[in-house]
Amino acid sequence: MVKVLFVCLGNICRSPTAEGVFRALVAEEGLSGDIQTDSAGTGSWHVGASPDKRAQQAALKRGIDLSDLRARQARPKDFVTFDYVLAMDRSNYADLSNLCPPGYEDRLHMFLTFAENTQVEEVPDPYYGAADGFGYVLDLCMAASRGLLAEIRRDYALG
Ligand code: 4NP
Repeated sequence: MVKVLFVCLGNICRSPTAEGVFRALVAEEGLSGDIQTDSAGTGSWHVGASPDKRAQQAALKRGIDLSDLRARQARPKDFVTFDYVLAMDRSNYADLSNLCPPGYEDRLHMFLTFAENTQVEEVPDPYYGAADGFGYVLDLCMAASRGLLAEIRRDYALG
């Protein structure tokens, strides 16, 4: 089982969106039995909350249901549990680096390094922005999810 954790600040906008997009792709490819997903926030403000309504609506327009997801805070043990810990922006990456137990640093990546043909390095926080920010987040998550799944298929010889 390959385990993938998506991490942002609040765990109510970007990382649940990334989890939902990646999870849907994994299901489409028939790999749900091989790849497990989760998401978390570096902050604790929204622990237990559902994804932001705007994130849920934007995802539903693309047939992706985020309603079962609940926010939790990232913890050091996540680096032991998960093969991939994926930061949405540099600030998340820095916070996760501080959380990471020695020896597990190679599990931490910027999520968008897996997006082919994009120069964008960070998934921008849509929380305080315009509604179309959520569609842009979905586009970035889709591009990075495709690249991530391709790498996991190669590295773990899946299907
Ligand atoms: P996220 O967005 O990190 O993509 O979930 C945010 C959600 C809430 C807050 C910040 C970012 N907040 O400060 O409450």
